[in-house]
Amino acid sequence: MIDLATQQKIKDTADIVDVVSDYVHLVRSGGGYKGLCPFHNERTPSFSVNRARNFCFCFSCKKGGSPVNFIMQKEGISYYEALRQLAKKYGIKIEEKEITDEERASMERKEAMYLANEWAMQLFEKNLHETPDGHDIGLQYLYSRGVTEEAIKAFHIGYALDRSTAFIEEAKKKGFNLTLLKELGLIGTSQQGYDYDRFRGRIIFPIMSSSHKVVGFGGRTLKQESAKYVNSPESEIYKKSYELYGMSQARQTIVSQDRCFLVEGYLDVIGMWQAGLKNVVASSGTALTDEQIALIHRFTKNVTLIYDGDEPGIKAAFRGMNMLLSHNLDVSVLLLPDGEDPDSFARKHSPEELRRYVEEHSTDVIHFKARVLIDRAQNDPQKRVAAIRSMVDTLAHIPDKVKREVYIQECSRIMRVSEDAISSATAEAHAVIKEKSKKEREMRKLNRDLDNGRITPQPVRNSPLMEQTITVNPSPVQTPTKSIYNSKISVETNPLRPLEWKVIQYCLRYGYVNFCESLDQENGRQDDEYKHYLTVVEFVKEELSNDDLAFSVPEFAHIFQLLLDLLPAFRNDLEEFQQKLADGFEQKRNEGYNIIGSKNLTIAEIQKEEIKLDEKIRDEMQEEITRFSRSYPSRLLASHEDDVVRTLTNEAILERHQLSQIYSREHPVESEEDKLFNLLPMAITVWKNGILDIQLKRLLSQFQEIAGKGQLEEERRIQAHLAEIIKLRSEFAKNIGDRIICPTSAQRK
Ligand code: CTP
Ligand code: MN
Repeated sequence: MIDLATQQKIKDTADIVDVVSDYVHLVRSGGGYKGLCPFHNERTPSFSVNRARNFCFCFSCKKGGSPVNFIMQKEGISYYEALRQLAKKYGIKIEEKEITDEERASMERKEAMYLANEWAMQLFEKNLHETPDGHDIGLQYLYSRGVTEEAIKAFHIGYALDRSTAFIEEAKKKGFNLTLLKELGLIGTSQQGYDYDRFRGRIIFPIMSSSHKVVGFGGRTLKQESAKYVNSPESEIYKKSYELYGMSQARQTIVSQDRCFLVEGYLDVIGMWQAGLKNVVASSGTALTDEQIALIHRFTKNVTLIYDGDEPGIKAAFRGMNMLLSHNLDVSVLLLPDGEDPDSFARKHSPEELRRYVEEHSTDVIHFKARVLIDRAQNDPQKRVAAIRSMVDTLAHIPDKVKREVYIQECSRIMRVSEDAISSATAEAHAVIKEKSKKEREMRKLNRDLDNGRITPQPVRNSPLMEQTITVNPSPVQTPTKSIYNSKISVETNPLRPLEWKVIQYCLRYGYVNFCESLDQENGRQDDEYKHYLTVVEFVKEELSNDDLAFSVPEFAHIFQLLLDLLPAFRNDLEEFQQKLADGFEQKRNEGYNIIGSKNLTIAEIQKEEIKLDEKIRDEMQEEITRFSRSYPSRLLASHEDDVVRTLTNEAILERHQLSQIYSREHPVESEEDKLFNLLPMAITVWKNGILDIQLKRLLSQFQEIAGKGQLEEERRIQAHLAEIIKLRSEFAKNIGDRIICPTSAQRK
């Protein structure tokens, strides 16, 4: 093994003229060198060497290549042997790296995966060309989309037969490891344990890495089904964020033209390629990643984004540009006429027309943005301010100072603002971005160190909420957590009461419903079955203990504690309930299977029916479980022996019913429970904010008391504390304003 950096060093050092001269007598000719080809017998020299491109080539027998390729062919040795020979020639030391068994196993696994994908690609290609369905359905479709034979070959487009086990049968015949094929996403397994082909009745676009390895597939449906594309999952050899569709085919032209065009989809790449634009790749429908940009950067500094000329296209161009600029790329944008995507546009125009269009319509992305923004703002001053701000943000992403200055000048001209104004605003924004990326780098390093066990994390606790500026007395109802509010605040005047009541209400109404995934990964597993969920009460408990808080209203503290105490009992009962439920449903399922079995269906249809049945049963079960969990706390506490507990519980539930009646008239879909993800955290935030308010008032009055009495030390302390609280408050205010809880972490049912 030679490490990559050394490989690169050898390639960079080896000079083609120098290397070839060891074998061939070269003479100057034009801008390069010429000689008799060492690969075949000839009398007139047709072997040419180009120093600038570090490349040699025989026009007659077509052999040649880079210094490494040349040595490989001339000596008949492997890539690594050629590298070693060159290293020796140039005195470059190679650190031979010992590889561990683990590394070897992983390399072998990856190798096996590449092989399997390569074979699958060929099988799909064979299907397309050599089976009746491939011909009549697959090829017909491609032709109807204007895809040429040449493109089909170059992109290795194939067809997956519309059968449930055609691929599997072939794989078995060839003795492929099915587990591996499952990891590659070529084979799926149903709930019942049947294996099936994951790509069925689809046009297959192999995704190849820049070094021409098949890492995954995209399969486009030919029917009206919901999933337009089925794509390979991520695997050891396929990391989506690292790949660009078409890179294998485009790479050379990207280098020779020193430009990379960027489109969105598989068919866009192919359309453009057919129309002569060969240096084109696609991000495959997702936002561009840093890794993808780095990949482009290996081959060129110039990127042109191609988008529809409509509003979404312009937005998309705006979205990607800051990131591209921050990688120090020169970015242009090419807008197509309204309503055209690259694929349709390419098919309507000859290569010559396309070339001209690209030439005439490519615009520097910064000029483009400045013009679009200022055109839209017209003379509306507020819009102009917003436009300039947005422009400043973009300019601030340019790492190179000189380039930044040049663009600042141009933008000031286009947008008719003084250069000074843009320049100073940009400098500020640039400093912020730089600081932020420094922080991010540090965070990444920290995370790496944590992963590698170089640091053990220490819990940090420094929330000002902990500071007990308010006298603490134990509350009359004993709670395990301390109450920060003193019982001198009577029930009526405790300003926190209504805020806490909201939270308690949610606990009583939904206390044992699963609320979110737990962040602690005790099991170290991320699979669905092992996910641990926090119920509503546990979530509240966690939220409170983060800030060392407790309910200040004693009755609420008492109820909350009851709910926590009853949790184990609930879990127990739930398990029993689930068991009973499962037995009942098992019977239902068997009945369902019998009915399906008695119909006259094919295996594939049976499988489909069975999956449908399973899903239905699972949903029904889940619904029962949710109903059980939801009603549990109220069932217990609504008839509790303690008067207060009973009354409050009934109050909380009653209010819900009234509420939901009003609610359901106006908003039939979104119930309170549906919105709990926003409502609960919001209620907690509002509560904490209320606490800060009280602290703030106290501190202010303390401050007024001592102000001007020469107690500087004390004054400073209070001021610092005040500043901290004000900052927290403004953060909370923002939270309350735009509380967004990511719906994917949602787990209600
Ligand atoms: N894509 C995907 N999964 C989807 C939809 C889109 O992976 N369900 C990705 C594919 O890489 C696709 C690209 O996003 O090529 C662009 O999407 P779209 O324009 O919808 O697809 P096209 O490939 O252009 O297909 P067509 O022109 O046939 O609609
Ligand atoms: Mn399309």
